[in-house]
Amino acid sequence: MTAQSAAQLANVSRAAALLRAGELVAFPTETVYGLGADARNAQAIAKIFTAKGRPADHPLIVHLPDVSHLERWAVEIPAAAAKLAAAFWPGPLTLILKRHAAVLDAVTGGQDTVGLRVPNHPVALQVLREFDGGVAAPSANRFGHVSPTTAAHVREELGDAVAMILDGGPCAVGIESTILDLSGAAPRILRPGMLDADAIGAVLGGLPEFGGQQNAPRVSGSLEAHYAPRTPLQLVATADLAATAGRALAAGRRIAVLAARPLALDHQNLAWRPASADPAQFAHDLYARLRELDAMGCDAILVAAPPADEAWRAVADRLRRASAGSK
Ligand code: TXA
Ligand code: MG
Repeated sequence: MTAQSAAQLANVSRAAALLRAGELVAFPTETVYGLGADARNAQAIAKIFTAKGRPADHPLIVHLPDVSHLERWAVEIPAAAAKLAAAFWPGPLTLILKRHAAVLDAVTGGQDTVGLRVPNHPVALQVLREFDGGVAAPSANRFGHVSPTTAAHVREELGDAVAMILDGGPCAVGIESTILDLSGAAPRILRPGMLDADAIGAVLGGLPEFGGQQNAPRVSGSLEAHYAPRTPLQLVATADLAATAGRALAAGRRIAVLAARPLALDHQNLAWRPASADPAQFAHDLYARLRELDAMGCDAILVAAPPADEAWRAVADRLRRASAGSK
């Protein structure tokens, strides 16, 4: 055994032991870092809400080691859930199902449904297997802030509020899981993610619906003011970027731009960071870029609006919320 894998195994054991003891452990997933606690322990769950500064009625996703755990958390599980789990777990898909009576109200926000997923990250899976239970985990950021995609981001957000931060490198996907509600009459995507409606529809034999309904379960990721950097963020059509930046610079403002290409403008108060033209790469980089742009201390962040097609839906959703959160 290499020294590194021995250290990693020791970390995994320590993380599982801390979870059993009711402590908070931040861990990597393929989407974003999670702030984990034993989903059967109400006191441990309470610590999540305190650490995040999150309203207590917002439900949490329970992370499972594998699909065999599903029946401990959900009832009346539709055939679609088994099909989707077989196709996409471990992976960036959260299923909303009717809750099992044993699930804590603090986890579901008092609703009759529960969010469940098996994350696709080796460190997360090792911890979940060793813990052998459900780990409730929101993204490991302060409420309303940009989600963390590295262990360093978690440290910036939560620092000493967690007993342990497991470092699994940068997250491969970079934005949060697709949330699919299977508790209603028809499958419905409550939060778009990089696992898109076409992929889900191919397994279901028909496209899911989109968006919340009246009386739909609350999804804090669906609040408008969310995922926001501190610097005001504005989405601008690529064709209008140079003119918009030019006006702001002329007014003496300092501007940071996230776009595929640098603007044909040279100004000491203008900074540019490259954005990928590929949606998966854009998603992968997005939150780290927003943190980087935020740290420049500019007066505004201008982001080139992504194309309006399906492949960009999840990225466009996060950018729109980041801009709404900035106002
Ligand atoms: O990729 C992800 O999903 C990450 C990683 C850590 O797994 N987690 C994450 O958690 O994004 P969080 O808490 O930041 O967002 C989860 C969303 C929340 O908006 C919550 O409202 C929603 O899932 N949710 C959880 N349980 C739900 C339920 N029973 N009904 C509707 N929405 C639910
Ligand atoms: Mg979150």
